[in-house]
Amino acid sequence: MLPDRRSGLERRSAKAEQAEHERRKAAQRRTSARRSGTDRRDETTWQQLSMDGSPLDRPDADVSLVDAAAEARTRAQAHYSHFMVGAALETADGVVIGGCNIENATYGLTLCAERVALVKALSDGHSIFTRLAVVADTDAPTPPCGPCRQLLWEYCGDIDIILGNLNGPTGRFRLSALLPMPFDRRLLG
Ligand code: THU
Repeated sequence: MLPDRRSGLERRSAKAEQAEHERRKAAQRRTSARRSGTDRRDETTWQQLSMDGSPLDRPDADVSLVDAAAEARTRAQAHYSHFMVGAALETADGVVIGGCNIENATYGLTLCAERVALVKALSDGHSIFTRLAVVADTDAPTPPCGPCRQLLWEYCGDIDIILGNLNGPTGRFRLSALLPMPFDRRLLG
């Protein structure tokens, strides 16, 4: 057998590397056990999302709301992501309030287009809403993010969410389908 010519330090660091390797493998095993079966993070929810949308049964109204969202989008302040989003929120009286995303150098203070439309509407005294359109310049839909869904649920209830791009509407969803188990005031006791 050849003599082990590694210094004590080298031997110790090889041992430490082996221990780190074992530790990582054990952590991986624990994580996959916790996920009990399928890792759902990589599933293509986009496909399901657009197929689960109900048929566009109000195409003309949806087209004009999507147009309003596309118009609001032109004012997006998306200097960091360059991902411009527009939203248009329709009230029960037929008033349409637009919103665009507004970013900031801190990144974390970004306001989504949906929330901008919502807070504009609320602060102007509107309280009953029927539909919201969201538009980005992409083939894939741009559904409201989680926090926006939660706020929309709070203030708009189960409205229709119309997703679209610069060519028009691409899908329609009830908010309850996008946020199936909301936390709301009913749960406050
Ligand atoms: N964004 C929206 O305004 N609405 C959405 O539904 C998704 C994301 C904005 C936030 C940020 O300014 C940019 O898009 C990239 O995430």
